[in-house]
Amino acid sequence: MKKYLNHLIILLLSFTFWSCQAEVRRPEVQIIPLPASMTNMEGTFAISSGTKILINSDSPEMHKVTANLCRYLENFYEIKNKITFSGASEKNSIFIKLNTRLSISKEAYNLTVSPKGIMLEAPSPSGLFYGIQTLLQLMPPIKQKLSEVVLPSVEIKDTPRFAWRGLHLDVGRHFMPKEFVLKYLDYMALHKFNTFHWHLTEDQGWRVEIKKYPKLTEVGSIRKETLVGHYGSKSYDGTPVGGFYTQEDIKEVVAYAADRFITVVPEIEMPGHSLGALTAYPELGCTGGPYEVATTWGVFDDVYCAGKEETYTFLQDVLTELLPLFPGEYFHIGGDECPKTRWQKCPTCKQKMKDEGLRSEHELQSYFVQRMEKFLNENGKKLIGWDEILEGGLAPNAAVMSWRGEQGGIAAAKQHHNVVMTPGEFCYLDHYQADPKTEPLAIGGFLTLKKVYSYEPVPPSLTEDESKYVLGAQGNVWTEYMKSPEQVEYMVFPRAAALAEVVWSPKGPKDYDNFKNRLVKLTKIYDLLGINYCKAEFK
Ligand code: ACM
Ligand code: ZN
Repeated sequence: MKKYLNHLIILLLSFTFWSCQAEVRRPEVQIIPLPASMTNMEGTFAISSGTKILINSDSPEMHKVTANLCRYLENFYEIKNKITFSGASEKNSIFIKLNTRLSISKEAYNLTVSPKGIMLEAPSPSGLFYGIQTLLQLMPPIKQKLSEVVLPSVEIKDTPRFAWRGLHLDVGRHFMPKEFVLKYLDYMALHKFNTFHWHLTEDQGWRVEIKKYPKLTEVGSIRKETLVGHYGSKSYDGTPVGGFYTQEDIKEVVAYAADRFITVVPEIEMPGHSLGALTAYPELGCTGGPYEVATTWGVFDDVYCAGKEETYTFLQDVLTELLPLFPGEYFHIGGDECPKTRWQKCPTCKQKMKDEGLRSEHELQSYFVQRMEKFLNENGKKLIGWDEILEGGLAPNAAVMSWRGEQGGIAAAKQHHNVVMTPGEFCYLDHYQADPKTEPLAIGGFLTLKKVYSYEPVPPSLTEDESKYVLGAQGNVWTEYMKSPEQVEYMVFPRAAALAEVVWSPKGPKDYDNFKNRLVKLTKIYDLLGINYCKAEFK
């Protein structure tokens, strides 16, 4: 009997061991954004220090792409791999193959994990980069020395739905240190975002060095204090706030972004939201000032004078310094929330309207934007602005960022202008994400994770042809109520994960519960990276 008992115990133990092994053997595949096509397969592949990383092209871009993978394996599991140049796959290898003849879109990739090895193929380095982001999400979300990292076998064919997959950051209301901006770019890459909209100037602070106009940062970047509590409160904190990026900082951020296949779209606000600049150079306003860098939020009547030639010279000088720093195709000129109060009274503005045959102040704003567009186009850039640039007539080649709902975007697409959808109802990540009673102070609104996830960027009222003008969508992060990087992270994550899936994954029936299941793994990666995300959905 004792003999049989021993057998039974051994049997039980080995069954337990086997079932644990089975669990280790085939971890679940939980990827965000959901790939376009994915087939789970039998078995696993284990990456160890003996696994070779093979690349078929020796370009600096290939090394950058591969470095991303090696850094992860080393930082998280202390596994170091050798990178070798090779034209073909080998046993126990990760073969990273640039195949320019592959007829899939530029950012697409094919990834196969099988017991024999890993094969990643794409027509461009950006596709390979996204394939590696997926590969990282197949690994266990732990930071621990491992002899091998076990990945589930899977076959993925992936391609993004939209070309513009954006996240924005307002550094005007609260300056965010360069070190955080770099982290933000890393977090964006993890979610396969490819466009960073950097809102650099505001009523509350001008945040970028312009050598020809040093007072922009000496004077215009500093406000003497900040409103305490919600808009309308009479209380101020008495603490000066400043901060700006040097042009060297800008270069570093743009290069860091490029290594992660992210384009930086800078925004220099005009003609409104310009008190930072006017405080430094009051002659650029209609009244001549004096002005003060704003200490509260909202919209201010003092804006650039649209009648004075000095305004256009100043802004063109500013752009002349900035354009070489930003290699992307678009430059954002703001254009939103510009009251016409001063223009209506200003003799110079009135004279300009007369001279140019403009019938309204809206047409004066349109004239302003068209001049800036001409300048940008002559310098090889495209103009993008908030949807107010439709008022008074859209500049001939301008793209529109639709924020006051989708109507602006729809109107622009119907006029065959490119559009980026950022409607407040779905894309404003500064809005409350859970019960305001239990949340840190925010501007207002209410935008749950589920609602972001439900967003469909192509409005049904557009024809198939018009839909092509919708480049994509973007989450906007206005920082009136975000004083620190930690608070930005709290507001952005995990809602950015939902948006990432909106802009990357194919259109089709969405399964929020399935997304939330996959999000569990992504939030473990957030934990590893130290991201201060909101846990309201995980209670
Ligand atoms: C905006 O939110 N004022 C574009
Ligand atoms: Zn004026």
